[in-house]
Amino acid sequence: MAKPKPSFMDTIVSLCKRRGFVFQASEIYGGIGNTYDYGPLGVELLRRVREAWWNGVVVERSDVVGLDSAIIQNPKVWEVSGHVGGFSDPMVDCKKCKGRFRADKLEDAKCPEKPSKQPGQCDGELTEPRSFNLMFKTNVGPVEGSGSVAYLRPETAQGIFLNFLNVMNAGRLKPPFGIAQIGKSFRNEITPGNFVFRTREFEQAEMEFFVPPADYAQWFDHWKNARYEWYKQYGIDPAKLRLRDHEEDELAHYADRCGDVEYEYPFGWGELEGIAGRTDYDLKHHSEGSGTDLVYFDPQTKEKYTPFVIEPAGGINRMALTFLIDAYEEEQLEKDTRVVLHFHPEIAPITVGVFPLVKKDGMPEKAREIEGELRRARMATFYDEKGAIGRRYRRQDEVGTPFCVTVDGDTLSDGVVTVRERDSMEQTTVKVADLRAYLEGAMRTWKRPERVAPAGA
Ligand code: GAP
Repeated sequence: MAKPKPSFMDTIVSLCKRRGFVFQASEIYGGIGNTYDYGPLGVELLRRVREAWWNGVVVERSDVVGLDSAIIQNPKVWEVSGHVGGFSDPMVDCKKCKGRFRADKLEDAKCPEKPSKQPGQCDGELTEPRSFNLMFKTNVGPVEGSGSVAYLRPETAQGIFLNFLNVMNAGRLKPPFGIAQIGKSFRNEITPGNFVFRTREFEQAEMEFFVPPADYAQWFDHWKNARYEWYKQYGIDPAKLRLRDHEEDELAHYADRCGDVEYEYPFGWGELEGIAGRTDYDLKHHSEGSGTDLVYFDPQTKEKYTPFVIEPAGGINRMALTFLIDAYEEEQLEKDTRVVLHFHPEIAPITVGVFPLVKKDGMPEKAREIEGELRRARMATFYDEKGAIGRRYRRQDEVGTPFCVTVDGDTLSDGVVTVRERDSMEQTTVKVADLRAYLEGAMRTWKRPERVAPAGA
């Protein structure tokens, strides 16, 4: 009997493991739920996504600065922010199998004993919903006890609010301005994770944009559109992207409005990034909680006010997963199928593969020399001399390397190499002396290729 075709997500998970993007954490001990490690290509992919986000939100703007705040803060921060009281999911327990499930997501869960049924529709009876806080607790100092309890941050945002005055005063800033931060956050997620879409430990990219209250609505629209456009700029299929405004009953406890950038994943539409209007909720609460007045004071006009805040908040791991899924294609060629990731060149973990056509006649030495020059120009390269050249191209297609450079007899006699482009598979002869400029130009002018729908569509 023919084996059933794996689901699109299984194909992505298997590619990630085989090529060194993502591994299950603690794999040799049977793993640990909703937790993953990133291999050599995964690390590079995350680094690219992080850099692209930072470029879009900080480097390319004159009104946003950066911060790196602590993961463990004074526990009072989380009481005042509302996370101790409000950052929870309604959970039910099965009295038979003792499984615990999100009461509002039962349709996504499977009974551990009868996976074809959802909890409650099997033989097990469910308890009434109870609130389950998502924050991880730990202890600081040498003695465990209620006085030493601290939390791993569930969002990076609070570190920004705590440093509002420090950053504003140090930079002599005046609203509108933003403070951006990328860092790890932790949540004791219970629902099934869909690979790295939802994990217990993840990296957030958040920015708090502080504005005069009168300009709040206008800046909210600005950031919603800017963040939506950023995904298109980096090649995500616009047909699989949408902006969706939250209904009143979906809003987090601190927000009066929120727009999500959503992507159509193989498992349905899901939040990729949220752009929330947090009003003056956080600054006001921390002012009251700490006794420090977190306000902007204009020394010239003597005007004093609590800024309102717009917060674009995304997850670097979720963005990386989205880039992977969106880039994947099984392209039908005349004789076979090629697996290719059509990453934007600035997102691709490797930018250039460098190959000698054969392992003799001085070609490996010349290829190594060219590779070294590209590396020194800060291009991510990969040298490969094993196997037929066509197979080497295909191995790079599968990890999304946009360009491959082949050194052959003409390189040694005429100083030219062949550049093979991933998406079109076209080959161009380029002078070694012009190679770097050629590649940089091709990166700048890259366009998302017209292609058949990805395997998961
Ligand atoms: N400060 C606001 C905040 O934390 P959120 O919607 O809970 O808002 C923002 O999180 C983004 O962080 C999400 O859009 C998602 O990309 C990412 N994220 C949240 N929880 C996650 C998890 N458990 N695993 C991976 N990414 C997550």
